[in-house]
Amino acid sequence: MTSESLTVRDNRTGQEYDVPIVDGTIKAADLGKIRPGEDQPGLAVYDPGFVNTASCRSSVTFIDGEKGILEYRGYPIEQLAENSTFLEVAYLLIHGDLPTKEQYDAWVHEITYHTFVHENVKTFMQGFRYDAHPMGMLMASVGALSTFYPDARNIGDPENRHMQIVRMIAKMPTLGAWSFRHAQGKPYVYPDNDLGYTANFLSMLFKMSESKHEADPRLVKALDVLFILHADHEQNASTNAVRSVGSTQVDPYSAVAAGVGALYGPLHGGANEAVLRMLRRIGSKENIPAFIQGVKNGDEKLMGFGHRVYKNYDPRAKIIKKACDDVFEVTGVNPLLEIAQELEKIALEDEYFVQRKLYPNVDFYSGLIYEAFQFPPEMFTVLFAIGRTPGWLAQWLELTQDKEQKIARPKQIYTGARTLDFVPAAERWA
Ligand code: CMC
Repeated sequence: MTSESLTVRDNRTGQEYDVPIVDGTIKAADLGKIRPGEDQPGLAVYDPGFVNTASCRSSVTFIDGEKGILEYRGYPIEQLAENSTFLEVAYLLIHGDLPTKEQYDAWVHEITYHTFVHENVKTFMQGFRYDAHPMGMLMASVGALSTFYPDARNIGDPENRHMQIVRMIAKMPTLGAWSFRHAQGKPYVYPDNDLGYTANFLSMLFKMSESKHEADPRLVKALDVLFILHADHEQNASTNAVRSVGSTQVDPYSAVAAGVGALYGPLHGGANEAVLRMLRRIGSKENIPAFIQGVKNGDEKLMGFGHRVYKNYDPRAKIIKKACDDVFEVTGVNPLLEIAQELEKIALEDEYFVQRKLYPNVDFYSGLIYEAFQFPPEMFTVLFAIGRTPGWLAQWLELTQDKEQKIARPKQIYTGARTLDFVPAAERWA
């Protein structure tokens, strides 16, 4: 027995087992060997929400939630946000290392070249109801891309995988922008490949009759930084969805569509939309104490606060708070900022939040910036999805090459009835 092991005594049988500890974990399969009798099921772990279960080995993103540290491929998020670009960060996540000048130019060229989508994608999107939520449109249209690129199912071929990764990073802004234009009843704008990734996205969103739409560079930079901050976050709910669906060896468009679906939920990417609605409902600083009391009574949650992993200030929230100043310099201050700042101040001093280590997360301030861009709240999660796409794909890529991975298939604790005798309907209803 080595010291890197766990001794478990099964009090049902009196038997002891040594379970190896590797990388601070034990293998669930080793627990499965612990059984009270030959014909009895082995011991399993009950962990709804995967609160304490590692599902993979990954070298993409490191988080220390206690210290508030986030690194992509070892590089601190603060340095990347300050000095890099979204496409360089996407390269880093996908390839595992920073690009040389030649690699970067080739990468940007590839992504730019693939921003257009098949005309039938446009027709497909135009079929949505006038008030369709853009996340629903994005989820459906990303999934639909799998029918335009049936070769994508050949996930064992590295070149093929690369092609789909480039396509998806390139086309997400096009699909996202068209979902936005659709809700507004405005014509869809084709990509302008003279522009950079983020500037082109803003052009597809806001261009009207002008021959060229060039957004204020400060806004382009701020949105680029927001994309960087959202680019990956290790095994979060949507990445877990991508990996889980991807583990069936389906094509990456279908796997990423599942990720978009998971991100849509208000406890995940939908939180920034919920924050804005909450701030608007609070309305003024005077109403904050009553609102906080309601949260403490369990009536509702303080959206944009709390995180499964961070038990400290979310490092992304710090950067976003700073980015607010740059954006508001161009757009004017969002009046909801005052309420948000006061809410944060009160919450950070309140025993309820202190005790539970609830701090602002990435979504607390991002909605305010997005609103300053004149995005309606429904668009916020679409922006998150565009930023998260390289992360989803980096994780998917890792999955496809990880020999230890299997089809994701959790166990259950069955609580229903057994061995009932079926009585045909005619007899039951007689
Ligand atoms: N407001 C009030 N109480 C909260 C909040 C909140 N935002 N978040 C957690 N708590 C309480 C929760 O009620 C529980 O209290 P108690 O121990 O008395 O039952 C305690 O804190 C622990 O919370 P939990 O629900 O066990 O924590 P979790 O890890 O399961 O949930 C979370 C994490 C992010 C889902 C949750 O904090 C939450 O719902 N926050 C609001 C939604 C939000 O801002 N989501 C964005 C997350 S960051 C972006 C992303 O990754 O998508």
